[in-house]
Amino acid sequence: MRTRITELFGIQHPIMQGGMHFVGLAELAAAVSNAGGLGIITGLTQRTPELLAREIARCRDMTDKPFGVNLTFLPTFSKPPYPEYIQAIAEGGVRIVETAGRSPEAHMPALKTAGIKVIHKCTSVRHALKAEAIGCDAVSVDGFECGGHPGEDDIPNMILLPTAADRLRIPFLASGGMADARSLVASLALGADGINMGTRFLATQEAPVHDNVKKALLEAKETDTRLIMRSLRNTERVLNNSNVARLVEIEREKGDSLTIDDIHDLVAGVYPKVMVDGDMDAGAWSCGMSVGLIHDIPTVAVLIGRIMAEAETLIRQRLAGVLDTADPEPALA
Ligand SMILES: Cc1cc2nc3c(=O)[nH]c(=O)nc-3n(C[C@H](O)[C@H](O)[C@H](O)COP(=O)(O)O)c2cc1C
Repeated sequence: MRTRITELFGIQHPIMQGGMHFVGLAELAAAVSNAGGLGIITGLTQRTPELLAREIARCRDMTDKPFGVNLTFLPTFSKPPYPEYIQAIAEGGVRIVETAGRSPEAHMPALKTAGIKVIHKCTSVRHALKAEAIGCDAVSVDGFECGGHPGEDDIPNMILLPTAADRLRIPFLASGGMADARSLVASLALGADGINMGTRFLATQEAPVHDNVKKALLEAKETDTRLIMRSLRNTERVLNNSNVARLVEIEREKGDSLTIDDIHDLVAGVYPKVMVDGDMDAGAWSCGMSVGLIHDIPTVAVLIGRIMAEAETLIRQRLAGVLDTADPEPALA
């Protein structure tokens, strides 16, 4: 399968792994790239630019295929030294960066000078058009279904993707709710050039997280995610658990007077407790509605191989077959 995304990034399959805090380590990024997709190391999971440089070197030891680094510009409790992170990425020879959150505009000169291709992840067509205007090479368009931050517009991919296809000139990936061959084929039909997945890649053998996380994903249904931090305009889709239920209750009680301090302990510092220690009730961690489509923990190579093989069958048999079938009820004259 060749699309504008496989051409742009020099990869075999139009499947990308989105940055995931405490998940996007070298092991997962290398596994995705080795399987022909685009693996991504999550920059800010590495506490310093020096540690990111080490993680990039570790990934390079595990794959000779292209991989990228995610840089997230969200309101965080600390102020990351982004220019130094970009320097570590450039010096590490990485030529693909996934930006997310706020606009990467201020950092575009540094990224472009280093010859880096930028794919900006955004949740609305207006932000995608802005990314195109400031020189991003591609975007991934994250629908309301997505794990993490779906923005505040609440537009699902059935509407968001064709709208993006109508207006964008640069290649784009469908992101949010993608889990299998049906997601890929549907996204191509809606105008996208490939898919970006988070939650589905979390449920793989190589995802370097505690087994409890993978068990929780197997047990969860599509109705088990919750939206939090809406009144702070920092909406996040997370997997429900006892502390998320508490958090939602606090949000209900406080209404518009909610401040980050009211929920700080339920959202800050949660990832190491969940992903490393396997404490599934530690607080809020991102998870998409696609969790309802996850029924196994395959290797990344099996997952990507299955998606590509089933996508071919879907296109050649199911879709072509719809056209080839003789119409049992001839259309009215
Ligand atoms: C556990 C987890 C952590 C994530 N952390 C980040 C992050 O640090 N930066 C980022 O840009 N996106 C992050 N995301 C979002 C993913 O990159 C991706 O956009 C999203 O998961 C797509 O939706 P899906 O989960 O339905 O596939 C995270 C998602 C998950 C599930």
